[in-house]
Amino acid sequence: MIADLKICIDKVVNPLSGEAESVEKRVEDISEKNGEIHIKYNREGLSPEDKRKFEDNILNSIKDKIDPEKVLFSSFSKNSSDIYKKEEKKEEKKEEKKDSSKDASLKVGHGDKITQKRNVAGVGKVIAIASGKGGVGKSTVSVNLALSLKKMNKKVGLLDADIYGPSLPMLLKKRGEKPRANDKKKIIPLESYGLKLMSFGLFVNEDEPVIWRGPMLGGVLNQFLFDVDWGQLDYLIIDLPPGTGDVQLSMAQTINVDGAIIVSTPQDVALLDATKGLKMFNQVKTPVLGMIENMSSFVCHKCGEEHFVFGKEGVKSKVEELKTQFLGKIPLDIEIRKGSDEGKPFMEFSKNQSGPIWKSYMSIASNVDKIFSKNEKESKGFLGKLFGK
Ligand SMILES: Nc1ncnc2c1ncn2[C@@H]1O[C@H](COP(=O)(O)OP(=O)(O)OP(=O)(O)O)[C@@H](O)[C@H]1O
Ligand SMILES: [Mg+2]
Repeated sequence: MIADLKICIDKVVNPLSGEAESVEKRVEDISEKNGEIHIKYNREGLSPEDKRKFEDNILNSIKDKIDPEKVLFSSFSKNSSDIYKKEEKKEEKKEEKKDSSKDASLKVGHGDKITQKRNVAGVGKVIAIASGKGGVGKSTVSVNLALSLKKMNKKVGLLDADIYGPSLPMLLKKRGEKPRANDKKKIIPLESYGLKLMSFGLFVNEDEPVIWRGPMLGGVLNQFLFDVDWGQLDYLIIDLPPGTGDVQLSMAQTINVDGAIIVSTPQDVALLDATKGLKMFNQVKTPVLGMIENMSSFVCHKCGEEHFVFGKEGVKSKVEELKTQFLGKIPLDIEIRKGSDEGKPFMEFSKNQSGPIWKSYMSIASNVDKIFSKNEKESKGFLGKLFGK
């Protein structure tokens, strides 16, 4: 079996060099474990897009021999001479008399080797919002879920970990604002609509491409988690980039994530990628809270007819297959899209509080909160029994 797969994979062309795998030899190991095929390869020099292409090409080459859903990839990088654009030091030494805060800056460099996962001080639960495919609505869900939790009197922070396309500053009307650091050298998160916000987008110029590579991410992510003065939060929501790349892995190795939520449209191609995402979280031992179906249907404002643009109930059937929970669905609606573009998120600005979208977001927030309060009750019950309380 492995030998057959290797023959197919050897013919795969590397998207960067145009060389066949038999020449380039990126794949270091192909092995089988519990009916799944594990492929380990060297990702040196590959951008996230190239990595994705490379993995897709491999999957294509072996799809007649094995179900792509049973294939798991891991990658490594030996050389850490990464490409990045250093933050320009525009340190105008402004002496501010009353305010001792300074412009915050990022220490662009490699993260300390992580020996143990840490918790973020003062933060109750950390939730990661993920998807396999891009553009399915993770950031929009992150913001509106955060606002819905706020409406349930929770204190919520949002960490935009999408280094390739940070969008939370736009969604929360904070484009162009720069975070400051307090006298303890902690970065002060921005505040928008009652949510705390930190984003890579606040440190880089929007129109310049920034390329961060694997090991550097750990450093910046560490800083965003542990060097930001998050204060006391009930929830910290992390908006991830799409896919199963370095950010997801760095995050899973750095902190105890209490639960990941997978966002998907009901479309087959998105669901296939969502499955990969879910399996990755299982692999890195991060609990998956469940899935949200975004853009589930479109209700015509004129005739009232419901159209299933991306297919019907795809996520609902997938959760059964993947043995996870269905957390809720959100329709495709112009008010959501417009609100996002204008930095006026639906759950803060919509007047239609009795409408289906409002109810959907609130019900998802309540489902998420219930999962944690149920777990807490159970563990308290257990401790209570243990200590006779
Ligand atoms: N339910 C919805 N109805 C209408 N438009 C939506 C909905 N959800 C998201 N959108 C729009 O779809 C686009 C993509 O959404 P968003 O940026 O949240 O996706 P994403 O998964 O975070 O993307 P990326 O993978 O690039 O980070 C945005 O223009 C957003 O306004
Ligand atoms: Mg996004």
